[in-house]
Amino acid sequence: MQIHRFAIAIMAALLAAGAARAETIGFAQVGSESDWRTAFSADMKAEAARRGIKLLFSDADNDAARQQEAVRGFIAACVDAIVIAPVVVTGWTETLQLAKAAGIPVFIADRAVDANPDLFVARIAADFNLEGRLAAAWLAQATRGTCGVVELRGTEGAEPTIQRRKGFLAVLSQFPSMRLLRSASGGFTSEGGKRVMEGFLSTPEGLKDVCAVWSHNDNMLLGAIEAMHAAGLRPGRDQLTVSVDGVPDIFRAMQAGDANMSVELKADIGKYIFDVVQGYLAGKRNFPKWVLIPSDLHTPADAASMLARRGG
Ligand code: AHR
Repeated sequence: MQIHRFAIAIMAALLAAGAARAETIGFAQVGSESDWRTAFSADMKAEAARRGIKLLFSDADNDAARQQEAVRGFIAACVDAIVIAPVVVTGWTETLQLAKAAGIPVFIADRAVDANPDLFVARIAADFNLEGRLAAAWLAQATRGTCGVVELRGTEGAEPTIQRRKGFLAVLSQFPSMRLLRSASGGFTSEGGKRVMEGFLSTPEGLKDVCAVWSHNDNMLLGAIEAMHAAGLRPGRDQLTVSVDGVPDIFRAMQAGDANMSVELKADIGKYIFDVVQGYLAGKRNFPKWVLIPSDLHTPADAASMLARRGG
């Protein structure tokens, strides 16, 4: 009798160990184009390790075709689930249909796809349109509704570029004396932002009549600030600046008087994403299609506390 009970205990332990098999999750990341992206990747890896998840990480280096290939590799590897931060919104239907046919649940993180929402479980992301609206609203109050703006756009075809621009223009259109004077893409990188600003500065009119620089992310703005200093301008003073992400270097730029406002995009979203993925793998089904990540807005007034929070 005694032995019998011992055998049952062993069996139960073995079964429990079997049930707790580490999930293998494929994560198709955009690349490493910005400080925000790098922080997001680090958070995903740390959160996966904390949860004992085997994370297969692919870096598409902002190449949409390469990212599709990586996702098809995850499908062939029969992973338990796939998380995609899409480089661009288009071209995902076929690959998502393949994942569905293979019975592998897909989750969209950070950005968006224009494929049928039935092809993925949920999107876990902030509201990029709101970020654009917040930036324009802050600028309208700071300039009493009179301002000529130049724009640094992100990667063409990427959801944050499309929606931040839309949100910004929607609010700008409410103020007859606020106008977008020029716009160009810097691909979300510091080098790209610097290159675009050097382009604006090399035109005959330079930044004449420009009262503000609106950048789709902090890194492009930091590059533009470098170019403006090199041209003898005083960014943050001669021209106001508004951007998005809330990376440590933008708070340092705020402390130096070179930057005025940044809408925070939370980078530590691994917990939100894996809560949904693991919840789904454990059988939960009632997720909203869009799990919204809250935004926040920062100015020099809270730059020091934000830097302290970021360990800067
Ligand atoms: O998708 C979010 C955007 O991607 C971030 O704002 C930017 O830094 C990154 O390139």
